[in-house]
Amino acid sequence: MTDRYAVIGNPIAHSKSPAIHTQFARQTGQDVRYEALLAPLEGFAATVQKFVNEGGKGVNVTVPFKLEAYALATELTERARAAGAVNTLSFNGGKIAGDNTDGIGLVTDIMRNAGFILSGKRVLLVGAGGAARGVVLPLLQQQPAELVIANRTEQRALELANQFASHGRVHADQFSRLAGQFDLVINATSASLHDDVPPLAPALFAASTLAYDMMYGKEPTAFMRFAAQQGATVRDGLGMLVEQAAEAFFVWRGVRPDTGPVFASLRAQM
Ligand code: ATR
Repeated sequence: MTDRYAVIGNPIAHSKSPAIHTQFARQTGQDVRYEALLAPLEGFAATVQKFVNEGGKGVNVTVPFKLEAYALATELTERARAAGAVNTLSFNGGKIAGDNTDGIGLVTDIMRNAGFILSGKRVLLVGAGGAARGVVLPLLQQQPAELVIANRTEQRALELANQFASHGRVHADQFSRLAGQFDLVINATSASLHDDVPPLAPALFAASTLAYDMMYGKEPTAFMRFAAQQGATVRDGLGMLVEQAAEAFFVWRGVRPDTGPVFASLRAQM
């Protein structure tokens, strides 16, 4: 019998997850159906329960339900606990296992697809919301020389850095105090949604810097355009999207899909 999975969000119509997982299933020969489910803003848990009752095996969770998914889970992986949010639920005999594959998705895209080695590098993480929190632990696990967190509201950056202080060399700093060049600058803010760029000095970028925006779109984001003007190499978050999906597929099916062709077909369709 075909195993059912879904992505739940609000809005959900433009989600690329059904296309990604359908390609993964075809490629790996897994008998899987994957659909998009719109949950009412007050109806996340009910939507999950209905899907479970229908025999659903797992769901991906997207905006704005990742915190509710965390609360709904009856067990959590270490990376979900660290992220404080869940993007992957697995249903098994009344248990709801919560995982978070966003951070490993980012790290895999940076290391394997962009060929960037994180170990020993100076890394700047811009932002301190949910998107930033989800990637701190997997970044620190690669042992960068240092991870600096800068955020418009400085207090949130301080809290985030404090939370992970025992996991590696991480600290918060104000935008105006950042100095020296960074090997990697990651934009985890939602500024790109408003065609805005966080207040980063041009001198923070070198020609060898990788500037990574967790957002993606048809055109480069404002952050990517700014970083490119400083000579940096730029990359958007489409690869992260595909890699977090691949990790979720692995969590559910125990099989690793080949992400390269899926990434290429998504890029071609944008
Ligand atoms: P998400 O879960 O997507 O991270 P969030 O928790 O609302 O969403 O966090 C949004 C992040 O983008 C925050 O770091 C926010 O900064 P504040 O903590 O100061 O609010 C940041 N952000 C949003 N718009 C921004 C802008 N125009 N310039 C700089 N930072 C911005």
